[in-house]
Amino acid sequence: MSDKRKHSILTLQKMKAEGEKVAWLTAYDYPTAAFAEAAGMDMLLVGDSLGMCVYGYEGTVPVTMDQCIVHCEAVRRAAPNTFVVGDMPFMSYQISDEDAVKNAGRFLKEAGVDAIKLEGGKRIVSRIRAILDAGIVVCGHIGLTPQSSGQLGGHKAQGRTIASARALIEDALAIEEAGAQLLLLEAVPPEVAGFIARKLSIPVLSIGAGYECDGQLLIVSDLIGQFQAFTPKFVKKYCNVAEVVTDAMKAYVADVKAGTFPAEEHCYHMLKAEAPGFEELTKEFE
Ligand code: KIV
Repeated sequence: MSDKRKHSILTLQKMKAEGEKVAWLTAYDYPTAAFAEAAGMDMLLVGDSLGMCVYGYEGTVPVTMDQCIVHCEAVRRAAPNTFVVGDMPFMSYQISDEDAVKNAGRFLKEAGVDAIKLEGGKRIVSRIRAILDAGIVVCGHIGLTPQSSGQLGGHKAQGRTIASARALIEDALAIEEAGAQLLLLEAVPPEVAGFIARKLSIPVLSIGAGYECDGQLLIVSDLIGQFQAFTPKFVKKYCNVAEVVTDAMKAYVADVKAGTFPAEEHCYHMLKAEAPGFEELTKEFE
């Protein structure tokens, strides 16, 4: 465990005020979250991207509340001092304000996260207000919103035309006005994202929204080269875990087949004094 002091929404606001960039990463399990906290990560997102990165679904839509809670619990245990955000999965907030509050509350009550994130702009303002009224910190998420990517015509960057940029700016203002304390922009041009980050007083974070935001988010499975299906343009791979792990597994298979694993140093021999007794024992079974 690191000796970092517990991050809160106040820490993140102070970072924006002082121009210090926020480093944010997804995590879905205990070991990864522990590595992230030790690495000095400011925030962790237990994203519904776990549907693709952990469960092998094609998208995020099948992910359930129960899956999100289990993964949030593991991440919280591993990273007690990092600001952990739980991601509200599809259909956990779309139906009613009551549903949204009940499910957002589960993230805090059962998993102890610091905030929840939900996708959408003006059209979910009443959900944001209802969750805030329950005393929960809310992170908005606009731009490319994977849960409604069907309506966007696929996983496409947003805000690349004047009309689309205007809609994004209006959504961002509505989210801040509703009381959200963080905003994530996904796959948005840096010039639009930069304008929004300067206009809003809350921290505005980017995943694929360029260098002018108050911080950056990456999917851990992309960063470490674990997710194989596709790599978005905005990803920077920092290592290739798929290659390292596959090579290690190949070496293990080869060792087992060749009888070179296990070796002497991997064995628990009987206590020396017991050796004669063991010989007697085997005779009993001859
Ligand atoms: O689920 C997730 O990891 C996300 C990011 C794609 C922003 O919501």
